[in-house]
Amino acid sequence: MVSSGSLRITATALLLLSPVAVAAVPKVSRTGRYLYTDDGNRFFIKGIVYQTQGNDTECALDVGVIVSGPDNPLNQPSTFVDNLADGAACTRDLPFFQKLGVNTIRAYAANSSLDHDSCMSTLSNAGIYVILDLTLPLNGSIDTTLPAWSTNTLDQYLRTIDAFEKYDNVLAYNIGNEVILPSATQSAPFIVAAARDIRAYLNSKSSSALVGYAAIDGSSSFVENVADFLACNRSAEPGNASIDLYGLNDYQWCGNASSNTFNGLNSQFANYGVPAYFSEFGSEDCSPNPRVWTEVPVMFNSSMTDVWSGGCAFSYFSASSRGHQFGMVTLSSDNSTVTTNGDFDNLAAQFNAVKFVNSPAQVSVKAAPLPACPATASSWPVSNTLPPTPDDTACGCLADALSCVFQPPTPDYMVLVGELIGIACGLYGQAGGSCDDISADGETGVYGTVGMCDPTIKLTYIFSQYYESNHRAPDACLFSGNATINSAAGFNGASAAMTSCIPSPSATFTLSAPPVLIPVATPRTGNSTSNSTSTSSQGSTGGAGPKSAGGIFVGISGAVGCLVWGTLWTLL
Ligand SMILES: *[C@@H]1O[C@H](CO)[C@@H](O)[C@H](O)[C@H]1NC(C)=O
Ligand SMILES: *[C@@H]1O[C@H](CO)[C@@H](O)[C@H](O)[C@H]1NC(C)=O
Ligand SMILES: *[C@@H]1O[C@H](CO)[C@@H](O)[C@H](O)[C@H]1NC(C)=O
Ligand SMILES: *[C@@H]1O[C@H](CO)[C@@H](O)[C@H](O)[C@H]1NC(C)=O
Ligand SMILES: *[C@@H]1O[C@H](CO)[C@@H](O)[C@H](O)[C@H]1NC(C)=O
Ligand SMILES: *[C@@H]1O[C@H](CO)[C@@H](O)[C@H](O)[C@H]1NC(C)=O
Ligand SMILES: *[C@@H]1O[C@H](CO)[C@@H](O)[C@H](O)[C@H]1NC(C)=O
Ligand SMILES: *[C@@H]1O[C@H](CO)[C@@H](O)[C@H](O)[C@H]1NC(C)=O
Ligand SMILES: *[C@@H]1O[C@H](CO)[C@@H](O)[C@H](O)[C@H]1NC(C)=O
Ligand SMILES: *[C@@H]1O[C@H](CO)[C@@H](O)[C@H](O)[C@H]1NC(C)=O
Ligand SMILES: *[C@@H]1O[C@H](CO)[C@@H](O)[C@H](O)[C@H]1NC(C)=O
Repeated sequence: MVSSGSLRITATALLLLSPVAVAAVPKVSRTGRYLYTDDGNRFFIKGIVYQTQGNDTECALDVGVIVSGPDNPLNQPSTFVDNLADGAACTRDLPFFQKLGVNTIRAYAANSSLDHDSCMSTLSNAGIYVILDLTLPLNGSIDTTLPAWSTNTLDQYLRTIDAFEKYDNVLAYNIGNEVILPSATQSAPFIVAAARDIRAYLNSKSSSALVGYAAIDGSSSFVENVADFLACNRSAEPGNASIDLYGLNDYQWCGNASSNTFNGLNSQFANYGVPAYFSEFGSEDCSPNPRVWTEVPVMFNSSMTDVWSGGCAFSYFSASSRGHQFGMVTLSSDNSTVTTNGDFDNLAAQFNAVKFVNSPAQVSVKAAPLPACPATASSWPVSNTLPPTPDDTACGCLADALSCVFQPPTPDYMVLVGELIGIACGLYGQAGGSCDDISADGETGVYGTVGMCDPTIKLTYIFSQYYESNHRAPDACLFSGNATINSAAGFNGASAAMTSCIPSPSATFTLSAPPVLIPVATPRTGNSTSNSTSTSSQGSTGGAGPKSAGGIFVGISGAVGCLVWGTLWTLL
């Protein structure tokens, strides 16, 4: 029997202990192309995808609730589930992670305003690492077809890092998932620029978290070009950009497949210079069903561990893609209890039988040579010139100096921005102007000076150019009630403002915290005296800018296509 006195002592002891929580998980770091824990043991990702899936869209299957309506003609999801903010669910699910024997979960979206302490500490205390994608649906990621690397997206990524930096169990931050597609490779330089800037930010915070990317599978030449482009030796360039962790979403192992299924991949990646893993695996619609996960003993066998560092099985929660059902658990209607299925039991058996191959020894590992950057070719129409580091101060300076300001009539303005950029560029083009300043072209490597700014600033820049080209006639700054004249702007004009605010775009990350996030989505007014420092990061359509097509500027609203999120669950 325990006396109340000793109980009180215990409680006091706990209170004293809790603020100085000891590191629950060992630090994982990269040596050459392998991962090691502090004690020098090889680290393998034995993981599962942990992300609630939302509703379908016309693009693919997307995470998040779709709010259809005039503001969202493309039916893209506008919300998402932040599973790492749901401490009760993490506590509920931990015993199942432990039954599976996973040491890592991969989550695809986090809201930096929410509290993740409960879930992250539950996981950390259980020795479970997190691979977190920094992207969000809709405008919170680099767009596949109209890519940009702009202040709003950079700031969102930095805010998420700021929110997670205090946790000891963040293994990696992914800067994108399946953004570069076989049919659309132009986003690749933007992804590498993001890797460069996120790496610099993590270095500035003395963070050892890895910078990752999760690639879509495809033909071997496509997979190789993407992998090499992301990892290649850019040591001669400012920022030294390269990812630290390459993920391949790979579903080629189907059912009770032949043990040589991965041979092609193994030889393809035999000399790859950065750690590689399967960021998603576990093909559905195979025989036998439930899934037998016979790839697991192969993936963790010495025949593969020289090349690969494990993988994340897809998926804990129910997730469907193209008619296939991937989930391993179902929740009761009140979310309180979990029921597992045969996929879960089989995966648990395979994962628990894994014995990590503890070689090569860390002391023997040298930095593996990085691949050469793939040359621009018709089969790989991608420039090796990277876009600059987005600069909030320069873009804010520009916004304050512009004469005709985008003033959205609705807080949900992200679709409107794309549409209006198309309209404004069309009008300005007819007037003999060009939208090159706000464009960004990953095929030619030509980046307009304003291309790094928030889309609302890009729009304001073109509004101002058009207004000024019409000799500042008041009706040239109307845009059906979406624009307003900024009389504080002065008379030097938009081009002069650009030259003076952004004299030389640079690829060097300037250490700065992201601007404070103001929940009310109002873009910068252009009036430097009215709260102008806080809202410059409020952005819009995925950094989407128009792409010049023979002098005719095409509106983006019909061409946004599937954002990175849209291909989240895609199989080839
Ligand atoms: C998907 O849509 C259905 C019907 O519109 C809705 O009941 C359900 O809650 C949605 N699911 C999610 C995860 O948003
Ligand atoms: C993040 O959470 C806050 C607080 O609930 C909410 O106001 C905001 O809209 C969320 N942000 C996103 C991008 O979902
Ligand atoms: C690139 O990184 C390497 C290794 O970290 C470092 O030695 C080199 O100085 C860097 N180069 C540039 C141009 O930053
Ligand atoms: C898988 O295939 C092997 C060899 O073809 C066979 O021995 C084994 O029984 C099969 N397992 C299942 C679960 O079908
Ligand atoms: C494991 O690798 C060894 C050689 O490294 C090979 O002989 C064996 O067949 C492999 N086992 C599996 C399950 O892949
Ligand atoms: C169950 O959890 C999902 C995902 O977190 C959430 O969207 C849903 O609202 C929850 N349902 C209930 C009844 O709490
Ligand atoms: C990158 O290239 C530089 C210059 O050619 C070379 O000195 C360096 O060793 C290379 N680094 C790697 C990791 O391949
Ligand atoms: C703003 O622009 C959109 C797109 O052209 C248009 O539909 C709308 O009527 C304009 N005005 C207002 C007040 O929304
Ligand atoms: C700028 O903001 C200040 C302070 O709110 C206000 O007095 C001024 O009229 C504004 N100027 C313009 C052009 O909106
Ligand atoms: C600045 O923001 C504060 C708080 O959001 C608001 O109360 C105030 O009216 C704003 N000032 C101007 C000039 O917009
Ligand atoms: C996306 O657009 C909304 C307004 O619709 C804005 O509040 C949010 O900050 C934008 N996010 C990014 C990353 O640009």
